[in-house]
Amino acid sequence: MATKRLAKLPGTTDRRIDALLTLLAENSTIVISGAKIAKEIGVTRQQVWRWIEKLREVGVRVKGHARSGYHIERMPDILIPQMLSHRLYGTPFARRIYHFFKIDSTNAVAMRLGEAGEPHGAIVLAEEQTAGRGRAGRSWTSEKSSGIYCSVLLRPPISPAHAPLLTLIAGLAARDAIAEDLDTQPDIRWPNDVLIGGRKCCGILTEMHAEPDRVHHAVVGIGMNVNQTKMPEAIADIATSLRMETGKLHSRLELLIRLLRYLDRYYNQFLTEGARPILRRFAQVSSYSEGKRVRITTATESFTGVTAGLEPSGVLRVARDDGRGTVPVLAGDVAEVS
Ligand code: BTN
Repeated sequence: MATKRLAKLPGTTDRRIDALLTLLAENSTIVISGAKIAKEIGVTRQQVWRWIEKLREVGVRVKGHARSGYHIERMPDILIPQMLSHRLYGTPFARRIYHFFKIDSTNAVAMRLGEAGEPHGAIVLAEEQTAGRGRAGRSWTSEKSSGIYCSVLLRPPISPAHAPLLTLIAGLAARDAIAEDLDTQPDIRWPNDVLIGGRKCCGILTEMHAEPDRVHHAVVGIGMNVNQTKMPEAIADIATSLRMETGKLHSRLELLIRLLRYLDRYYNQFLTEGARPILRRFAQVSSYSEGKRVRITTATESFTGVTAGLEPSGVLRVARDDGRGTVPVLAGDVAEVS
Protein backbone atom coordinates (compact mmCIF):
# COMPACT_ATOMS: atom_id res chain seq x y z
CA MET A 1 0.00 0.00 0.00
CA ALA A 2 1.58 3.31 -1.05
CA THR A 3 1.72 5.80 1.79
CA LYS A 4 2.23 9.45 0.99
CA ARG A 5 4.63 11.08 3.39
CA LEU A 6 2.98 13.19 6.07
CA ALA A 7 3.27 16.86 5.30
CA LYS A 8 5.94 18.46 7.48
CA LEU A 9 4.12 20.98 9.61
CA PRO A 10 5.94 23.24 12.04
CA GLY A 11 5.05 22.32 15.61
CA THR A 12 3.80 18.76 15.01
CA THR A 13 4.92 16.33 17.65
CA ASP A 14 8.18 14.64 16.69
CA ARG A 15 7.39 11.09 15.60
CA ARG A 16 10.18 9.90 17.91
CA ILE A 17 8.36 11.31 20.97
CA ASP A 18 5.45 9.25 19.77
CA ALA A 19 7.78 6.22 19.63
CA LEU A 20 9.18 7.00 23.10
CA LEU A 21 5.72 7.17 24.59
CA THR A 22 4.63 3.98 22.89
CA LEU A 23 7.78 2.22 24.12
CA LEU A 24 7.19 3.34 27.72
CA ALA A 25 3.49 2.46 27.57
CA GLU A 26 4.13 -0.98 26.09
CA ASN A 27 6.73 -1.72 28.80
CA SER A 28 4.77 -0.23 31.67
CA THR A 29 5.71 -3.00 34.10
CA ILE A 30 9.49 -2.65 33.78
CA VAL A 31 12.19 -0.02 34.13
CA ILE A 32 13.94 0.72 30.82
CA SER A 33 17.35 2.33 30.79
CA GLY A 34 17.83 5.68 29.05
CA ALA A 35 20.54 4.06 26.90
CA LYS A 36 18.16 1.35 25.68
CA ILE A 37 15.42 3.87 24.84
CA ALA A 38 17.95 6.09 23.07
CA LYS A 39 19.14 3.15 20.96
CA GLU A 40 15.63 1.96 20.11
CA ILE A 41 14.38 5.32 18.88
CA GLY A 42 17.68 6.56 17.45
CA VAL A 43 18.44 9.64 19.57
CA THR A 44 20.93 10.60 22.29
CA ARG A 45 20.33 9.90 25.99
CA GLN A 46 20.18 13.66 26.59
CA GLN A 47 17.40 13.93 24.02
CA VAL A 48 15.50 11.12 25.77
CA TRP A 49 15.83 13.02 29.04
CA ARG A 50 14.59 16.28 27.44
CA TRP A 51 11.55 14.52 25.95
CA ILE A 52 10.77 12.76 29.25
CA GLU A 53 10.73 16.22 30.85
CA LYS A 54 8.35 17.44 28.13
CA LEU A 55 6.05 14.48 28.71
CA ARG A 56 6.08 15.19 32.46
CA GLU A 57 4.99 18.75 31.70
CA VAL A 58 1.84 17.45 30.01
CA GLY A 59 1.04 15.18 32.92
CA VAL A 60 2.62 11.86 31.92
CA ARG A 61 3.82 10.27 35.17
CA VAL A 62 7.29 8.91 34.38
CA LYS A 63 9.36 7.76 37.36
CA GLY A 64 13.14 7.53 37.46
CA HIS A 65 15.96 9.33 35.72
CA ALA A 66 18.65 8.82 33.10
CA ARG A 67 20.96 6.69 35.27
CA SER A 68 18.40 4.39 36.88
CA GLY A 69 16.15 4.10 33.87
CA TYR A 70 12.54 5.16 33.33
CA HIS A 71 9.23 3.62 34.22
CA ILE A 72 5.78 4.88 33.37
CA GLU A 73 3.51 4.96 36.43
CA ARG A 74 0.18 5.04 34.69
CA MET A 75 -0.89 4.62 31.05
CA PRO A 76 -0.92 8.21 29.84
CA ASP A 77 -4.10 9.56 28.32
CA ILE A 78 -2.29 11.28 25.47
CA LEU A 79 -3.67 10.97 21.99
CA ILE A 80 -0.62 9.09 20.74
CA PRO A 81 -0.78 8.85 16.91
CA GLN A 82 0.92 5.45 16.82
CA MET A 83 -1.65 3.88 19.15
CA LEU A 84 -4.56 5.63 17.46
CA SER A 85 -3.39 4.55 14.06
CA HIS A 86 -3.21 0.94 15.17
CA ARG A 87 -6.72 1.00 16.64
CA LEU A 88 -8.22 2.82 13.64
CA TYR A 89 -6.90 0.29 11.16
CA GLY A 90 -9.40 -0.22 8.33
CA THR A 91 -10.79 3.32 8.53
CA PRO A 92 -9.54 6.27 6.47
CA PHE A 93 -8.37 7.92 9.70
CA ALA A 94 -5.52 5.53 10.46
CA ARG A 95 -2.79 6.82 8.22
CA ARG A 96 -2.40 10.56 8.46
CA ILE A 97 -2.56 11.74 12.03
CA TYR A 98 -1.03 15.10 12.93
CA HIS A 99 -0.51 15.60 16.64
CA PHE A 100 0.40 18.84 18.42
CA PHE A 101 1.05 19.42 22.10
CA LYS A 102 -0.10 23.02 21.58
CA ILE A 103 -1.58 24.76 18.56
CA ASP A 104 -3.85 27.73 17.87
CA SER A 105 -6.69 25.73 16.28
CA THR A 106 -6.79 22.21 14.84
CA ASN A 107 -9.46 23.42 12.38
CA ALA A 108 -7.13 26.13 11.08
CA VAL A 109 -4.38 23.53 10.51
CA ALA A 110 -6.77 21.06 8.85
CA MET A 111 -8.16 23.76 6.52
CA ARG A 112 -4.60 24.59 5.45
CA LEU A 113 -3.89 20.89 4.88
CA GLY A 114 -7.07 20.64 2.80
CA GLU A 115 -5.96 23.54 0.62
CA ALA A 116 -2.52 21.93 0.22
CA GLY A 117 -4.08 18.73 -1.18
CA GLU A 118 -3.93 16.49 1.88
CA PRO A 119 -6.08 13.38 1.26
CA HIS A 120 -9.46 12.48 2.72
CA GLY A 121 -9.28 11.15 6.28
CA ALA A 122 -6.36 13.15 7.66
CA ILE A 123 -6.86 14.12 11.28
CA VAL A 124 -5.35 16.89 13.35
CA LEU A 125 -5.19 16.56 17.13
CA ALA A 126 -4.01 18.82 19.90
CA GLU A 127 -3.52 18.41 23.62
CA GLU A 128 -4.22 22.13 23.96
CA GLN A 129 -5.53 24.93 21.72
CA THR A 130 -4.70 28.58 22.25
CA ALA A 131 -7.36 29.91 19.83
CA GLY A 132 -9.96 27.14 19.58
CA ARG A 133 -12.74 28.22 17.23
CA GLY A 134 -16.43 27.77 18.04
CA ARG A 135 -19.55 28.34 15.98
CA ALA A 136 -20.75 31.87 15.14
CA GLY A 137 -17.32 33.38 15.75
CA ARG A 138 -17.20 32.25 19.39
CA SER A 139 -14.12 30.73 20.97
CA TRP A 140 -13.75 27.18 22.32
CA THR A 141 -12.04 26.79 25.68
CA SER A 142 -9.40 24.11 25.19
CA GLU A 143 -7.72 23.31 28.49
CA LYS A 144 -4.57 21.17 28.29
CA SER A 145 -5.14 17.41 28.01
CA SER A 146 -8.66 17.55 29.53
CA GLY A 147 -10.69 17.52 26.36
CA ILE A 148 -10.59 16.17 22.84
CA TYR A 149 -9.67 18.72 20.20
CA CYS A 150 -9.81 16.99 16.86
CA SER A 151 -10.36 18.06 13.25
CA VAL A 152 -11.11 15.62 10.47
CA LEU A 153 -10.49 16.42 6.83
CA LEU A 154 -13.13 15.01 4.48
CA ARG A 155 -13.43 15.12 0.73
CA PRO A 156 -17.06 14.08 0.29
CA PRO A 157 -18.39 13.60 -3.23
CA ILE A 158 -21.43 15.79 -2.52
CA SER A 159 -22.78 19.22 -3.40
CA PRO A 160 -22.71 22.03 -0.82
CA ALA A 161 -26.52 21.67 -0.51
CA HIS A 162 -25.96 18.33 1.24
CA ALA A 163 -23.24 19.61 3.55
CA PRO A 164 -25.54 20.05 6.59
CA LEU A 165 -25.77 16.25 6.63
CA LEU A 166 -22.03 16.00 7.34
CA THR A 167 -22.63 18.11 10.39
CA LEU A 168 -25.42 15.81 11.58
CA ILE A 169 -23.25 12.74 10.96
CA ALA A 170 -20.46 14.15 13.13
CA GLY A 171 -22.93 14.94 15.92
CA LEU A 172 -24.37 11.42 15.81
CA ALA A 173 -20.89 9.90 15.96
CA ALA A 174 -19.91 12.04 18.95
CA ARG A 175 -23.20 11.30 20.68
CA ASP A 176 -22.87 7.54 20.25
CA ALA A 177 -19.24 7.57 21.45
CA ILE A 178 -20.25 9.48 24.58
CA ALA A 179 -23.34 7.31 25.22
CA GLU A 180 -21.11 4.27 25.82
CA ASP A 181 -19.50 5.99 28.84
CA LEU A 182 -22.76 7.06 30.50
CA ASP A 183 -25.76 5.52 32.24
CA THR A 184 -28.03 8.17 30.72
CA GLN A 185 -28.71 8.88 27.05
CA PRO A 186 -27.09 12.06 25.72
CA ASP A 187 -29.29 14.37 23.61
CA ILE A 188 -28.40 16.25 20.41
CA ARG A 189 -29.45 19.85 19.97
CA TRP A 190 -29.68 20.57 16.26
CA PRO A 191 -27.45 20.51 14.42
CA ASN A 192 -24.84 18.77 16.58
CA ASP A 193 -24.38 19.95 20.15
CA VAL A 194 -24.22 16.91 22.41
CA LEU A 195 -25.99 17.55 25.72
CA ILE A 196 -26.04 15.71 29.02
CA GLY A 197 -28.83 16.80 31.36
CA GLY A 198 -29.40 19.85 29.14
CA ARG A 199 -25.75 20.99 29.34
CA LYS A 200 -23.37 20.92 26.40
CA CYS A 201 -20.40 18.55 26.54
CA CYS A 202 -19.45 18.49 22.86
CA GLY A 203 -19.55 21.02 20.04
CA ILE A 204 -18.74 20.67 16.37
CA LEU A 205 -17.61 23.29 13.91
CA THR A 206 -17.75 22.34 10.24
CA GLU A 207 -15.82 24.56 7.86
CA MET A 208 -15.63 24.01 4.17
CA HIS A 209 -14.19 25.05 0.89
CA ALA A 210 -16.79 24.55 -1.83
CA GLU A 211 -17.59 25.36 -5.41
CA PRO A 212 -21.22 25.85 -6.51
CA ASP A 213 -21.72 22.19 -7.39
CA ARG A 214 -19.23 20.31 -5.21
CA VAL A 215 -17.52 20.38 -1.86
CA HIS A 216 -13.80 20.67 -2.38
CA HIS A 217 -12.98 19.74 1.20
CA ALA A 218 -14.69 19.96 4.56
CA VAL A 219 -13.17 20.08 8.02
CA VAL A 220 -15.23 18.72 10.87
CA GLY A 221 -13.81 20.05 14.14
CA ILE A 222 -14.89 18.29 17.29
CA GLY A 223 -14.42 19.68 20.76
CA MET A 224 -15.38 17.35 23.59
CA ASN A 225 -15.25 18.19 27.30
CA VAL A 226 -13.97 15.01 28.88
CA ASN A 227 -12.00 15.31 32.14
CA GLN A 228 -12.46 18.96 33.11
CA THR A 229 -13.43 19.26 36.78
CA LYS A 230 -15.14 22.61 36.29
CA MET A 231 -16.19 24.90 33.48
CA PRO A 232 -15.13 28.53 33.06
CA GLU A 233 -17.57 30.79 34.94
CA ALA A 234 -19.02 32.36 31.79
CA ILE A 235 -20.34 28.98 30.57
CA ALA A 236 -20.77 27.15 33.89
CA ASP A 237 -24.59 27.11 33.57
CA ILE A 238 -24.68 25.76 30.05
CA ALA A 239 -21.65 23.47 29.72
CA THR A 240 -20.42 20.31 31.37
CA SER A 241 -17.82 17.57 30.99
CA LEU A 242 -18.15 13.79 31.13
CA ARG A 243 -16.16 13.74 34.35
CA MET A 244 -18.42 16.36 35.96
CA GLU A 245 -21.42 14.19 35.10
CA THR A 246 -20.07 10.82 36.20
CA GLY A 247 -17.47 11.74 38.82
CA LYS A 248 -14.99 9.49 36.98
CA LEU A 249 -11.98 9.98 34.72
CA HIS A 250 -12.67 9.00 31.12
CA SER A 251 -10.16 7.80 28.56
CA ARG A 252 -9.85 10.41 25.81
CA LEU A 253 -8.07 7.84 23.66
CA GLU A 254 -10.95 5.35 23.85
CA LEU A 255 -13.57 8.06 23.29
CA LEU A 256 -11.75 9.37 20.25
CA ILE A 257 -11.33 5.91 18.76
CA ARG A 258 -15.05 5.23 19.20
CA LEU A 259 -15.97 8.62 17.80
CA LEU A 260 -13.88 8.12 14.66
CA ARG A 261 -15.17 4.59 14.13
CA TYR A 262 -18.78 5.80 14.38
CA LEU A 263 -17.94 8.68 12.06
CA ASP A 264 -16.57 6.23 9.52
CA ARG A 265 -19.70 4.07 9.81
CA TYR A 266 -22.22 6.93 9.47
CA TYR A 267 -20.24 8.55 6.67
CA ASN A 268 -20.16 5.31 4.63
CA GLN A 269 -23.84 4.73 5.31
CA PHE A 270 -24.58 8.22 4.03
CA LEU A 271 -22.55 7.68 0.85
CA THR A 272 -24.12 4.29 0.10
CA GLU A 273 -27.70 4.71 1.33
CA GLY A 274 -28.20 8.48 1.23
CA ALA A 275 -29.61 10.81 3.86
CA ARG A 276 -32.60 8.78 5.01
CA PRO A 277 -30.96 6.51 7.64
CA ILE A 278 -29.07 9.50 9.02
CA LEU A 279 -32.27 11.53 9.40
CA ARG A 280 -34.03 8.53 10.95
CA ARG A 281 -31.26 8.07 13.50
CA PHE A 282 -31.25 11.78 14.31
CA ALA A 283 -35.00 11.69 14.96
CA GLN A 284 -34.47 8.71 17.31
CA VAL A 285 -31.83 10.31 19.50
CA SER A 286 -32.53 14.06 19.40
CA SER A 287 -35.35 15.53 21.46
CA TYR A 288 -34.90 18.69 19.37
CA SER A 289 -35.92 17.04 16.13
CA GLU A 290 -39.67 17.43 16.55
CA GLY A 291 -42.13 19.03 18.94
CA LYS A 292 -39.61 21.05 20.97
CA ARG A 293 -40.41 24.68 21.84
CA VAL A 294 -37.35 26.68 20.84
CA ARG A 295 -35.96 30.14 20.27
CA ILE A 296 -34.02 30.43 17.04
CA THR A 297 -31.40 33.13 16.75
CA THR A 298 -29.87 33.70 13.33
CA ALA A 299 -27.57 36.45 12.07
CA THR A 300 -30.62 38.50 11.09
CA GLU A 301 -33.50 37.62 13.44
CA SER A 302 -34.71 35.85 16.56
CA PHE A 303 -38.06 34.07 16.85
CA THR A 304 -39.80 31.31 18.79
CA GLY A 305 -41.64 28.26 17.55
CA VAL A 306 -41.89 24.49 17.66
CA THR A 307 -39.50 22.17 15.80
CA ALA A 308 -41.15 20.18 13.00
CA GLY A 309 -38.57 17.63 11.83
CA LEU A 310 -35.69 17.89 9.39
CA GLU A 311 -35.73 18.46 5.64
CA PRO A 312 -34.03 15.82 3.46
CA SER A 313 -30.94 18.08 3.35
CA GLY A 314 -30.69 18.06 7.16
CA VAL A 315 -32.05 21.59 7.62
CA LEU A 316 -34.33 22.07 10.69
CA ARG A 317 -37.99 23.01 10.18
CA VAL A 318 -39.64 25.28 12.73
CA ALA A 319 -43.33 26.21 12.97
CA ARG A 320 -43.15 29.88 13.96
CA ASP A 321 -45.27 31.27 16.77
CA ASP A 322 -45.84 34.53 14.88
CA GLY A 323 -48.06 32.87 12.27
CA ARG A 324 -45.49 33.07 9.46
CA GLY A 325 -45.72 29.35 8.86
CA THR A 326 -43.17 26.55 9.05
CA VAL A 327 -39.75 27.74 7.91
CA PRO A 328 -36.39 26.05 7.25
CA VAL A 329 -33.55 27.07 9.56
CA LEU A 330 -30.25 26.74 7.73
CA ALA A 331 -27.98 27.95 10.51
CA GLY A 332 -28.32 29.62 13.86
CA ASP A 333 -28.54 29.02 17.58
CA VAL A 334 -31.31 26.84 18.92
CA ALA A 335 -32.34 27.22 22.55
CA GLU A 336 -35.07 25.37 24.39
CA VAL A 337 -37.80 27.65 25.79
CA SER A 338 -40.46 26.67 28.29
C1 BTN B 1 -19.19 24.97 18.87
O1 BTN B 1 -19.16 26.20 19.00
O2 BTN B 1 -20.10 24.30 19.38
C2 BTN B 1 -18.15 24.25 18.04
C3 BTN B 1 -16.90 24.03 18.80
C4 BTN B 1 -15.85 23.28 18.01
C5 BTN B 1 -14.53 23.19 18.74
C6 BTN B 1 -13.56 22.31 18.05
S1 BTN B 1 -12.16 21.92 19.05
C7 BTN B 1 -11.36 21.19 17.68
C8 BTN B 1 -11.66 22.06 16.49
N1 BTN B 1 -10.70 23.12 16.37
C9 BTN B 1 -11.26 24.34 16.57
O3 BTN B 1 -10.64 25.41 16.54
N2 BTN B 1 -12.57 24.19 16.80
C10 BTN B 1 -12.97 22.81 16.74
